[in-house]
Amino acid sequence: MLTLLHLDSSSRGARSISRDLTRAFVDAWKTAHPGGEVITRDLLATPVPFVDETWVAGVFSLLPATAEQRQALAVSDELIAELKVADHYVFGVPMYNFGIPAVLKAYIDQITRLGKTVLLAPGNISVGLLRGKKMTVILACGGTYGPESVLAPCNFVEPYLRTIFGFLGVKDMTFFTADHASDVAFGKIDAESYLQPLREQVCALAQG
Ligand SMILES: Cc1cc2nc3c(=O)[nH]c(=O)nc-3n(C[C@H](O)[C@H](O)[C@H](O)COP(=O)(O)O)c2cc1C
Repeated sequence: MLTLLHLDSSSRGARSISRDLTRAFVDAWKTAHPGGEVITRDLLATPVPFVDETWVAGVFSLLPATAEQRQALAVSDELIAELKVADHYVFGVPMYNFGIPAVLKAYIDQITRLGKTVLLAPGNISVGLLRGKKMTVILACGGTYGPESVLAPCNFVEPYLRTIFGFLGVKDMTFFTADHASDVAFGKIDAESYLQPLREQVCALAQG
């Protein structure tokens, strides 16, 4: 049985473009994988704590973790277990100030753990432990960041997510970008006309 991890990180709810498109992806994925299981992780509904001193001490200590450190690592353990059990990840990501939202960075800090999601060897060799996973990122941004755009070098979302999840072992990554999303907020296009063709493309990705 296949498992999909569905993660959203937009601060918006009903009007969020990325949430609408991950929902369409999940629906299509369920149709394509009857009996498949979906794990939902909403970083706004259930915020992930920032790593703190106890967390860091627990991860980097050579001694067995104390009860306090184990407690500080409990969220990280739970998030990593989800990543390990899932076969496919779909992440809804809004671009905020050319980068990822802070809630997603807090999540990445929790899941990037020596011995759990990555191994380091001498000579700057790293071995990511999230092997054999498929990842689809649905990025919503107000502008457009294609290769022909003057804003292309300002897209720090895709290179960052490719780098960090690549470091963690994910090789099969697809990025789908809903650009000009602010046209909806500014009333240049109505939400349904904007979203409908994108939903169809996202559904095709989920079924592929
Ligand atoms: C705090 C904030 C910062 C933003 N920064 C950018 C940006 O740097 N570049 C961009 O193209 N759009 C930016 N936008 C526009 C969002 O990316 C756009 O509204 C997108 O639809 C957000 O995703 P969502 O609809 O899923 O919430 C920003 C929006 C917010 C709220």
